[in-house]
Amino acid sequence: MGEKYEKMKAIRDEVIALTGGLADFRRENKYHAVLGEGSHDAKIMFVGEAPGKNEAEQGRPFCGAAGKLLDKLLESVGIPRADVYITNIVKDRPPSNRDPLPSEIELYAPFLDRQIEIIQPKCIATLGRFSMEYIMRKFGLSFELEPISKAHGKLYEAEAPWGGTLKIAPQYHPAAAIYNQSLIETLKKDFQILKTI
Ligand code: URA
Repeated sequence: MGEKYEKMKAIRDEVIALTGGLADFRRENKYHAVLGEGSHDAKIMFVGEAPGKNEAEQGRPFCGAAGKLLDKLLESVGIPRADVYITNIVKDRPPSNRDPLPSEIELYAPFLDRQIEIIQPKCIATLGRFSMEYIMRKFGLSFELEPISKAHGKLYEAEAPWGGTLKIAPQYHPAAAIYNQSLIETLKKDFQILKTI
């Protein structure tokens, strides 16, 4: 296997070996850590929040109700799921799907940072507020941070540490749209921007 695969595997092994907090909750429930899936050469990387129950049971990101909606959104813009890379900031499921704690984001974010460095995407599409805030801060756009109600659908540009420009495309979290048809329409419209990548 290639170098990217080996580096990804090293990240997986480290996350699996974590102890305490969410990693203990994972073992108690026989859940899986959810590292991410998709192409290691993806131009677009999707970053969600944290795995839900389905994801932790299957070890795959976005495979539950929010995932089905994400699949539909990708289909609506003609982007095959296999061509992108999908992951989360937090790699273990928080109990009762609560928001991740700042300490959990701090613990897991370095693994996400390494995944981004391996893939070196042209665009990061953030799903939800936590991911938007983390990614925009990480790439030096703190001064442009706005509430997600204003930022969704915009395309920000940052300097990629590996050279060139990194585009950041904040999206509402698909889970927020499951029972909200108007938010689904907004997401569909906002996803159109990804066609330009
Ligand atoms: N919500 C997320 O943020 N990530 C998943 O993988 C599933 C649901």
